Amino acid sequence: MSSNGNKTILISGGAGFIGSTFVMQMLATQSNLRIINVDALTYAGNLENLQSLEQDERHIFVHAEIQNTELMDSLCRQYEVEGIINIAAESHVDRSIHDASPFIETNIGGTVSLLTVARNLKLKKYVQVSTDEVYGSLDLNSDELFTEETPLAPNSPYSASKASADMFVRAFHHTHDVPAVITRCSNNYGPRQFPEKLIPLMILNAKESRSLPVYGDGMNVRDWIHVEDHCDAIWRAYEYGKPGEVYNIGSDNECSNLHIVHSILSILGKSTDLIQYVTDRPGHDRRYAIDASKAKRELGWAPRIPFEQGLQSTIEWYLEHPEWCEHILSGQYRDYYSQQYHRER
Ligand code: NAD
Ligand code: DAU
Repeated sequence: MSSNGNKTILISGGAGFIGSTFVMQMLATQSNLRIINVDALTYAGNLENLQSLEQDERHIFVHAEIQNTELMDSLCRQYEVEGIINIAAESHVDRSIHDASPFIETNIGGTVSLLTVARNLKLKKYVQVSTDEVYGSLDLNSDELFTEETPLAPNSPYSASKASADMFVRAFHHTHDVPAVITRCSNNYGPRQFPEKLIPLMILNAKESRSLPVYGDGMNVRDWIHVEDHCDAIWRAYEYGKPGEVYNIGSDNECSNLHIVHSILSILGKSTDLIQYVTDRPGHDRRYAIDASKAKRELGWAPRIPFEQGLQSTIEWYLEHPEWCEHILSGQYRDYYSQQYHRER
């Protein structure tokens, strides 16, 4: 507890898709919580996502890289931070295939930096927001699910960097007694997701009657969860997660990419002629599916948003926020920073 009576946590990546949802959701539901939000504002970071919090004194935004250990340390001291939730990452598989370097720097280097701070300051909790992709790929024709015991078998440079980070979390817990917990969630969807990812890309393309690029045969399967359900699980992992444990998070909602694309076209009343089959992603994982029973049992968590309802409201969000979409597509969202915030380094 900080001297001002608030509980203060440092979160990273709070201008991104999941991070911004997490910050807004937590400040709306946890009345004594203050959040120090560290984000480097890469191409995926967008301060327009945090517009509603401009007057909220419980939200302190810091434009910085998590690899800056000295700054992370001094922020935690200055604001009497109780714990860290590491959400920041380079998150897009296709970009990692093109160039793995930023993934090593942020996903591995950044994680080690924050773990070092948690160790030095003996913070109360550290949560690493990881991914189901660290488990590799499942057979399309099996009913096997990823459990927390599934061996790590990352296939893309992205998932290799996330799996490496998870190993550092494990090592810092084992060696330095950092009270660290790892969450591994399946594919998220919802408002404010950067339109390089399947669902927002397909919504925006369909809306403009542009072609919808489906990789390979379109039969790869992902297990979709609404971002708000994921954020609820992250908070419960922070509050109730047992140090040293891993919690899988998922919503029992396996869908092929083609099924998703057809659903979006149908909701928007567009023709399936817009579907364009394109060259497959190299090393493309075939199927992900999560067994989240441990999180349900031990964190008292359960997903609440049915997929059909969540997809409908997500599509509505993109239709109702043409400015957000236009600013992203034109690159204008990057100017928002210079108008709103000071750089803290
Ligand atoms: P995102 O790409 O939308 O956002 C990432 C944020 O991190 C951005 O705001 C970016 O500016 C920031 N960032 C990047 N490098 C940074 C650095 N060095 N220092 C500080 N900030 C930095 O990503 P997302 O989809 O919101 O994913 C967030 C986290 O959740 C990631 O760790 C990802 O691996 C994990 N995850 C994502 C999904 C998903 O489906 N999106 C599913 C499971 C887990
Ligand atoms: O499983 C969790 C992971 O989900 C997260 O860790 C990642 O950060 C997140 O990006 C996501 O990874 P995916 O690679 O599964 O998501 P993406 O939206 O890039 O792709 C979803 C599926 O859709 C995948 O099978 C590839 C396919 N796809 C994607 C795009 C962008 C297409 O067919 N066409 C496309 O244009």
